[in-house]
Amino acid sequence: MGNSCKKYSYLILLIMCYLLYIFGINKSTEISENEKNESAVDVSSESENILVYEEKKKVALTFDDGPGESTKKLLDGLKERNVRATFFVTGSNAEKYPELIKRMSDEGHIVGNHTYSHCQLTCLSCANALDEIEKTNSIIETITGIRPTYLRPPFGECTKSVKNETNMFSILWDVDPLDWKVQNTETVIKNITEKVQEGDIILLHDIFETSVDAALAVIDTLSMENYEFITVDELLFP
Ligand code: NI
Repeated sequence: MGNSCKKYSYLILLIMCYLLYIFGINKSTEISENEKNESAVDVSSESENILVYEEKKKVALTFDDGPGESTKKLLDGLKERNVRATFFVTGSNAEKYPELIKRMSDEGHIVGNHTYSHCQLTCLSCANALDEIEKTNSIIETITGIRPTYLRPPFGECTKSVKNETNMFSILWDVDPLDWKVQNTETVIKNITEKVQEGDIILLHDIFETSVDAALAVIDTLSMENYEFITVDELLFP
């Protein structure tokens, strides 16, 4: 073997080593890419799991002024959907529909006080305002055996002294779809779903069938968007 032949042999050997080296690097890169992909799959499957267990967005449906002719339909719809709500009833309507008040309580809803005759408490003397509230508490307690602890003053207005004297929690609202004014199911649904946020208290009136239909449709729509419907006490004191 001549010198030039040896040189060529070294050169070929060198090239082969180089190729093996490059091939090796590619191979290891491929493996690490694969590993990366696998870990990416792991991460995504983990995040999918996180999505599944994501905490529900809790909101409270509240119904004022009832019970009325449409309240039975609402209670049936809530039962069917396994949803509990809060009712702020007037004493006068509670006297008219005691069986509906009993049913609310038996089915896990909160029965709150909305005064006896739906009066504006700020226009009454403190004593008269307290009478309106006390009379209603007694009616509800007689029917359900539970003394109400939540008050929704009509028109959202109450004096400080009345609030202090009653020793009740005064509950207002975050979303007012003006259901009593529009009395149109589609508009009420739209007014709620466009505004609602986690932790909101939604105001409705179960004396209108359009509001009852809207409430049930809103439950169906928002349940698909990870919302959960709970009572005001569960929302305020989790
Ligand atoms: Ni009212």
